[in-house]
Amino acid sequence: MSIYALFKGKGPSGFGYGSTAEEVTEALLLTGKTILVTGCNSGLGQEAMRVLAKRGARVLGTARTLEKAKTACDAVGGQTVPFACELSDPSSVRACVAAVKRGGYRLDALIANAGIMALPKRQLAHGIELQLFTNHIGHFMLVTGLLDQLADAGRVVMLSSAAHTMAPKAGILFDDLAGDHGYTAWGHYGQSKLANLLFAKELARRFAGTRRTANAVHPGVIRTNLSRHMPGFASFVFGLAGPLVLKSVPQGAATEVYVAVHPGAATTSGAYFADCNPATPRADADDPALAKRLWEVSESLVAGLPLAADSQASRVR
Ligand SMILES: NC(=O)c1ccc[n+]([C@@H]2O[C@H](COP(=O)([O-])OP(=O)(O)OC[C@H]3O[C@@H](n4cnc5c(N)ncnc54)[C@H](OP(=O)(O)O)[C@@H]3O)[C@@H](O)[C@H]2O)c1
Repeated sequence: MSIYALFKGKGPSGFGYGSTAEEVTEALLLTGKTILVTGCNSGLGQEAMRVLAKRGARVLGTARTLEKAKTACDAVGGQTVPFACELSDPSSVRACVAAVKRGGYRLDALIANAGIMALPKRQLAHGIELQLFTNHIGHFMLVTGLLDQLADAGRVVMLSSAAHTMAPKAGILFDDLAGDHGYTAWGHYGQSKLANLLFAKELARRFAGTRRTANAVHPGVIRTNLSRHMPGFASFVFGLAGPLVLKSVPQGAATEVYVAVHPGAATTSGAYFADCNPATPRADADDPALAKRLWEVSESLVAGLPLAADSQASRVR
């Protein structure tokens, strides 16, 4: 709990900046619910999995490797099932989709939580800038691949970030998805987080007329492994600021967990949440034409990705 949290009030949901994932689920019994969480071995995903399992949900936890997922699942009480899902490897994502389908799991919620941030040097996966590929394209494949498994009132929660405001003015650089021109660590992280937000918006539009929902969240600013690529000095300052202004991990996991399971969010779709309450993203995050275009471009990109056998071979670094 930071000092800042003491001065921040609660919002209309009854929760706010200082609420933890345990607090937002305090009155809930999630027995019989199945929830998939990506990035279950670290930070917010690990805490979300722990709390959801504690409340009785069966949690399908994904990590880059089965071994990482197993270790994370074993560390949590309750019912968990580990899956491998390396988001920058299409064959791994497809295998994860197939394994979840084979298991016959009906998903009450899917939390697309995994992510990487602010890579100092441009890296590529399959010709696409790596943050965009991992954070957006990998999750695009996973979520769209699992739509048949989503329950009638299933909820999709995309981890975006307030850093979506750092995306280029043009929004998504459709003509330069490799980041060949003017790569910046934060600009391209911002682009990937804007993509997560636009994906939630377009998915919500496609869910219209059903009980399914799709939303995006900003979890707050929390010191986790996500900052591993920050330069030493910035990381040091981040560490110093922690007790003053940053959220703790239990607080950081609250918004994604709230949107995934709380009855107060059951009928909200196409929204952007922060501190467990609806918030306002930057203007073009509400542009339906941009969201539709991103969906169509992502779909055609995914259609052109290699199938299992040659997936690793064609990976560009
Ligand atoms: N922490 C913050 O201040 C903050 C602020 C705004 C938004 N967010 C968002 O919140 C989400 C969770 O972040 P966090 O703070 O909990 O970070 P974290 O502790 O670094 O956890 C990120 C998770 O994503 C996984 N991951 C990374 N690359 C992957 C890949 N290629 N395939 C599969 N999994 C991959 C990591 O696995 P490994 O451990 O194996 O790398 C880890 O499990 C992210 O989407 C992030 O953008 C965080």
